Amino acid sequence: MTPLGTADPEIVIDRHLDEAHERGLADDVLDGLTRPFKELPPKHFYDERGCELFDQICELPEYYPTRTERAILEAEAAAIVAETGAAELVELGSGTAAKTRVLLDAMAAAGRLRRYVPLDVAETVVQASAEALVEEYPGMQVHGVIGDFERHLGRIPPPVSGEPRIVALLGGTIGNFPPGSRRRLLREIGELLGPEDRLLLGTGLVIDTPTLEAAYDDEAGVTAEFNRNVLRVVNRELDADFPLDGFDHIAFFDTRHEWIEMRLRARRPCSVLVGALGLRIELAAGEEIRTEISAKFTHARVLGDYEAAGLRLTGWHTDADERFALSLAAPAG
Ligand code: AVJ
Repeated sequence: MTPLGTADPEIVIDRHLDEAHERGLADDVLDGLTRPFKELPPKHFYDERGCELFDQICELPEYYPTRTERAILEAEAAAIVAETGAAELVELGSGTAAKTRVLLDAMAAAGRLRRYVPLDVAETVVQASAEALVEEYPGMQVHGVIGDFERHLGRIPPPVSGEPRIVALLGGTIGNFPPGSRRRLLREIGELLGPEDRLLLGTGLVIDTPTLEAAYDDEAGVTAEFNRNVLRVVNRELDADFPLDGFDHIAFFDTRHEWIEMRLRARRPCSVLVGALGLRIELAAGEEIRTEISAKFTHARVLGDYEAAGLRLTGWHTDADERFALSLAAPAG
């Protein structure tokens, strides 16, 4: 045991984001809300309340991606683990690590599980899941990295052993990045991979528009609350005064770009002071702030992105309805 007694010897957590401002919120507000078309990046949804709302979204009847990806994982995890021989799982944007257990179970069943390396901005969530997981998987180490995978991939610890690892980016999170950034991020992830390592990537697929739009505009209004939560985060962290009831939730599928867009639309003219930045923002009635894009994929789009990022597709698994895909990729060599 360590002298502190509360610390678990199997857990290491490195922090690269000690303060909310290190997530870049102030810069993103300053840049994004002074543009001709206002925009905030989706990573700022995920404070504690935002993580809870996202967990609720995953339970909604309309939001099929989480349960579909989980079903594919349940069907394929054993084969993926056997195919890769992985002893270590690196998970980018691990959140509450709900689906992670499916992979860890398969690795444990194969007798190979050594270490889990979650990277996420949400410190309390990583800490709590690390504590639960070391209990559930005796002998497994957890090395958490609190950071932003756009900036802190280089802080991922090197493999513990010479054995292969899986680097997972699940849930369709890759879809949050516009095409150019997406390929850059895939390339950076590819640079972490040794010849035997594999990227495991979850991507929502292009399906019919009504099903897609319902998934991002549910009856119960949870996604609307999740969307408005970014304003709550800005109000709290940057001493701003966005009126939460002054914005409508908008979600639509852009068929040309093949992505869902979420926006917040001002119901009335609104003048907001962001106290911490000394910044006044004026919104006209009906003016919109883009808060998220969530790209949907075809097999060809995934192939093209991998190729552009120096990766090679080695596995493709979908559900029977082809709503979601889990793919595996290796360095092109
Ligand atoms: C966590 C980014 C995969 O894009 O589907 C859910 C976030 N936004 N509902 C997604 C989200 C609205 C989600 N990702």
